Amino acid sequence: MRILSIETSCDETAIALVEAKDGINRPRFKILKNLVASQIKIHRPFGGVVPNLAKREHLKNLPILIGKILKISNFQFPISKQILNSKSEILNTIDLIAVTVGPGLEPALWTGINFAKEVYKKFKIGNRKLKIIGVSHLDGHLYSSFLNPKSSILYPIINLIISGGHTILLLTKNPTHYKKLGETRDDAAGECFDKVARLLNLPYPGGPEIEKLAKLGNPSAIKFPRPMINQKNYDFSFSGLKTSVLYYLRDNTNLTRKIRMPRIRINSHHSHKFADSYYIPDIAASFQAAAFDVLIDKALKAAKEFRARSIIISGGVAANKTLQSKFKSEIRNRKLKINFLAPLKSFCTDNGAMIAAAGYINYLRGKKHTLKAQGNFSL
Ligand code: KG4
Ligand code: ZN
Repeated sequence: MRILSIETSCDETAIALVEAKDGINRPRFKILKNLVASQIKIHRPFGGVVPNLAKREHLKNLPILIGKILKISNFQFPISKQILNSKSEILNTIDLIAVTVGPGLEPALWTGINFAKEVYKKFKIGNRKLKIIGVSHLDGHLYSSFLNPKSSILYPIINLIISGGHTILLLTKNPTHYKKLGETRDDAAGECFDKVARLLNLPYPGGPEIEKLAKLGNPSAIKFPRPMINQKNYDFSFSGLKTSVLYYLRDNTNLTRKIRMPRIRINSHHSHKFADSYYIPDIAASFQAAAFDVLIDKALKAAKEFRARSIIISGGVAANKTLQSKFKSEIRNRKLKINFLAPLKSFCTDNGAMIAAAGYINYLRGKKHTLKAQGNFSL
């Protein structure tokens, strides 16, 4: 089955063309195209995503990306007669259009949904087998590791979705049956990285910046709290951790003054090798270690309780290599027989291919969502 997928829930316009086969139990995917038009530079001056700017950019990028995928030059939206008549051979091979309906920013979601509906309506005439399905963005993250070539999945799985908008721990007994074990009670893990990065004057999105800086720092330098780590549930809380970083900076004003210009200091040739160029990495490393300790500890406790054979992490924060290796070493330290899996980097952060994967599985199991933006859609 060939799937064209469209994702516009946040600040990435993403379209993919994916070949899916072998059914729900052993799905296999061949990524033919996976295009992402990132809006990071546009939102960066605002320190976060501005919904109306996101919408404007999606409207601009969607026709460009689909034109590239279908090999139709000057693709326009609404679709003109000229485009309809263009003989795109690729178009006729598509069986299913999968589009994200939520959760996410509603104005942004609507651009993708309206675009997908228009493509479906207009091209259905020439391609009668074409179908359309609404997909949850969270299902996309959940199934994103299935996109790795050669990933063999052993059930039951403990899934940890860690993105800019969500932190959810799930028990997946089989491909179509999952149960939420816990989630964040306030900020999402990625959101916390972004907020702490702002405190440290690092650009948006903060996760990759903190990961880079943390590599230069000492993760044991500052004892930040591990919120809820000893509570007997699978919920998380990250806003207190962010506040601890804020208080640390407030109480060490000699540092905060210097932190204002980390890059200049670090790169400066005529600096006297200020100690502060090491403090910022120490804060980044210590914060990151605190956040990861909680995520790993809760995921491993759940894996033990439910006798999971795999732990799969997904979402933007899962791209963090330090987190991945910490997970692996902690599984070894605790002598657990668990398969650990993380999607390839390009499938961790928002992308179209994961929506195709979720579209395939949900189509086969008959789980369809209405083609309406649902900003607060949950699992
Ligand atoms: O999954 P995603 O692309 O979008 C949402 O669905 O939210 O996740 C984006 C989040 C951002 O908060 C970003 O800072 C974080 O993922 N992120 C990272 C890394 N790369 C992206 N966090 C930690 N380490 C990273 N390497
Ligand atoms: Zn996402």
